[in-house]
This record gives sequence, C-alpha cells and structure tokens, in this order.
Amino acid sequence: MSGQILDGKAISADMREELKARIESLKQKGVTPGLGVLLVGEDPASRSYVTAKEKACAQIGIHSEEVRLPATATREEILNVVNGYNHDDRIHGILVQLPLPDAEMEQDVIAAIDPDKDVDGFHPVNIGRMLLGLTAFLPCTPHGILQMLKRSGHPAKGKHVVIVGRSNIVGRPLANLLTLKNDLGNATVTICHTGTTDLGYHTRQADIIVAAAGRPNTVTPDMVKDGAVIVDVGVNRVDDASRPRGYRLVGDVDFDGVRDKVAAITPVPGGVGPMTITMLLYNTVWSAERRAGGN
Ligand code: GUN
Repeated sequence: MSGQILDGKAISADMREELKARIESLKQKGVTPGLGVLLVGEDPASRSYVTAKEKACAQIGIHSEEVRLPATATREEILNVVNGYNHDDRIHGILVQLPLPDAEMEQDVIAAIDPDKDVDGFHPVNIGRMLLGLTAFLPCTPHGILQMLKRSGHPAKGKHVVIVGRSNIVGRPLANLLTLKNDLGNATVTICHTGTTDLGYHTRQADIIVAAAGRPNTVTPDMVKDGAVIVDVGVNRVDDASRPRGYRLVGDVDFDGVRDKVAAITPVPGGVGPMTITMLLYNTVWSAERRAGGN
C-alpha cells in the first residue's frame, strides 16, 4: 500500500476559486480586500514566505502592500507601522511575519494589531475567542490543516489526533480547535513536546499524526500505526549540493520511510504550506466582508 498524497496545492486551488467569487462581489460594492505586510530583518525563509503570500494575494485580486524594516528596527518603528495599518481603511488584514529579530518584542507587537484586522489569528482577543468557540480569526496553519483533512475525506471528527510540537502558532491552537464541538473538530487530542518521555508510545496510538516540531526525521516508521494519516507541518532546509540553491526542503517526517504504512500523508513542499497561505487569504476576504457589512 502506498499512502494517498494529500495535495495542499489542489485543495488550495479549489478554495482560492471560492474566494475569487467573494472578492468579485466585494469589488462590485467598491471594496477591494487589502493586506498590509510588515517584514523585519533579512531572514531568507521569512522573505520567501512573505513573497509567496503577496503573490497569492495578487493572483486572486487582493491588494497587498509591504513595509520592510531592518533587523535593527526599534519597537517604536515597528509599532508605528502597525498603527499605520490599523488606521488605513484600505487595509483589512495585517501580517507581521514572525519570528521578529528580537523575539522579546513579539507579544507587544501582536497585541498592538487591531483584533479586527488580525488575519493571522495571533492576537490574545482572537486566541481567547477561538478557545471559547466564538467567532474569531483562526490561525492560518491550524485552520488550513483542519480544512485539508475535511476536504480530503479524512475529517478529524472522532479520531485520536497526536500533535508533536507545542508552538503558539501551530501545536497549541490546533489542539484547541480539535477539541471544539463542530464539523472541523470533535477529535480526541494528545499534544507531545520536547518534555514528552516516550514520543513513539504516543504517536503509535494516533489515527492522525500532526508533526510540527521543526526538526527532520522527528517521526520515523516505527512511530506510526498502519493506516494512520500524517500531516507534516515541518519546513526544514537541508544541504543538498545537487540542487541549484544548495538545499532542499524536507518536513519533520521520514516521508519515504512511512509512505507505505500510512493511509494518507502531506508532502513537503506542497502540503500544509499552500493551505496556510490560503487561510490567510480567506481571513483577509472575510475581514473585508465584515467591514463591508456582509458577515
Ligand atoms: N511565521 C511562521 N508561520 C507564520 C504565520 O502563519 N504567520 C506569521 N505572521 N508568521 C509566521
């Protein structure tokens, strides 16, 4: 048996077509959804994520603009940009690409974003609302994973999902969304992390494994139950002299090793990554609709 490939690009393409129609009706009301982007520093991975997000905006008709600040930018300079976007009526969503060069600033910068423009779903107001099951911008990677599972015929409902990684961006919000009583959630959840004593013991119980540890080969074949579904959130650059850029991207899972054991698996690249971007577009369109009085 060779596991089904969960094609994030194809699912994203369907969702982006749905969004295009919504953007068209916004435009008929004179509203163009707008995303304000802030990139601080020169991290190449962050640069490439931001470029991909801006390109995706352009492809479906979302206006985007970008401010770039040097890694030496002060807290005040960063907050000024956020405030500018907060008060700009053409901007419905704000994206501050993380990590910031000074990680200590992150929570203050996130808290300065208008919660009604927080299309990353990172503001404490949105996190709190999400936790309570209230209407909120949902964080893009967790929401993208749930949409991908549902739309590919592997909904999390009733399943035991084991998440490897407890980040604020993926692991912890995903665990919370999975516990909600709705059509994306209703799962049983275990969350594992660097303090977990026997990771394989837990992952072997999983119907669905979500690997979000940020380390290649975190999940190996001996850690996977036959017929499990695997979602690989990892995006790791490993040296590869045969590639034009001198590196290739791999996930957190030994893809070739587990492929024959699993029912389905996301590739890296082309799995979760496109879904994260799609959910950012989704939140931006929804934000514009909310402001236009639609929803
Ligand atoms: N860094 C890694 N993932 C994300 C994301 O989804 N949003 C932002 N703003 N930064 C990130």
